[in-house]
Amino acid sequence: MNLILAILVILSAFHVLVPYVYYLFMKRIAERRPWGLVLDQDYEPKVSMIIPTYNEASVIVKKLQNIEKLDYPKEKLEVIIVDSASRDTTVDMAKKYVKKNGFPFKILILEEEERRGKGKALNFALQYSKGEVIATSDADSYWEASALRKALRYMAYPQIGAVTGREILINLNRNDYTTAEGLYRKFYNTLRIGESKYYSTLIFQGEFAVYKREVFEKFEDEKGSDDTGTVINIISKGLRCIFVPNAVFHDMAPSTWKGRMTVKTRRAQHLIYALTKAVKLKIKRRIPMSSLIIFVNFFLHVINPLLSIALLGSLIYLLYEFPLFLVCIPLLFLSRKLRAFLLSYISNNIALVLAIFRCIKGDRQDIWQKVPEMRY
Ligand code: GDD
Ligand code: MN
Repeated sequence: MNLILAILVILSAFHVLVPYVYYLFMKRIAERRPWGLVLDQDYEPKVSMIIPTYNEASVIVKKLQNIEKLDYPKEKLEVIIVDSASRDTTVDMAKKYVKKNGFPFKILILEEEERRGKGKALNFALQYSKGEVIATSDADSYWEASALRKALRYMAYPQIGAVTGREILINLNRNDYTTAEGLYRKFYNTLRIGESKYYSTLIFQGEFAVYKREVFEKFEDEKGSDDTGTVINIISKGLRCIFVPNAVFHDMAPSTWKGRMTVKTRRAQHLIYALTKAVKLKIKRRIPMSSLIIFVNFFLHVINPLLSIALLGSLIYLLYEFPLFLVCIPLLFLSRKLRAFLLSYISNNIALVLAIFRCIKGDRQDIWQKVPEMRY
């Protein structure tokens, strides 16, 4: 029994310390290291912005209105909406809006005959794009007017292949679930900035991703991860892909347990597939970037969630030996901050563990159900 307990405690210590030490290391870099890049304020390439849609009638007009406000020369931005046979009025609404109000940028509305998933839709749209830079965004996320310009300043640098932006949650203070996501995002952003300054981050968000056209043939469309999966291909060609904190977009966090688990588990599956691919490339020496970022991210998303089971085991043992501690548990949930932390920690780990098993089973998640509570 003592041996089992000792093993559980050691594994639990790993579970807590690896993320903590990595966080401190990346935080230091994020705060102290300069970017060391020569930014070009005047870089104004031709950009194609692709927005994939499936049943987005509730937000499509708001999305178009958001794009209209983008600060970018009219002749240098084209917008491509690619819809995969939505069953609602997404396409009609988009067409009507453009016809009635006009649109400042060139706009193309493409319709696929059947739904084959977001990645396939992006690749379909890519064939029609003419930009030197390809941007992706989601129908339910909104860019700040200056975001594109701010991202492009970094893209001017030859070694940079792609840039992703920083998410601000519209409904951050709505309830414990949204606050929990906000807390996770703080941790996430620090890691992404640190990794980007160190060399490159692997983790991108499709809500705001900007890629140089010449550095990739197509979006990764096999296992759902059109953002992180594509970025890993670009890094393997010797380019850096970075998170730019002042390129900002807004969207919503899920506000229920069910919504949170659905979204987190699916996103985690995409990430796990992509990170596994990065590890394989690293082992075959086909990705020229530091092992640290690749292996620690793989550890954090694939190994560490499983170690949370050891922490749970140690806690159960502790409570069994000292049942008085049981009284303390409700106290932990009294403070709003601590409650958000625990909720974030517990739900992230459950989602990751579920995702690991689903990946092992071969569930691809390239077609998914939207979460309506994330649209307003
Ligand atoms: N054309 C097309 N076809 N678009 C799709 C399809 C499809 O089959 N499935 C989803 N989309 C569109 C949605 O309409 C939305 O604009 C965007 O893809 C993202 O889908 P959401 O349902 O909003 O997912 P999310 O908020 O969790 O998105 C995040 O995770 C995804 C990966 O799981 C973002 O980071 C996405 O960029 C990312 O792909
Ligand atoms: Mn979304």
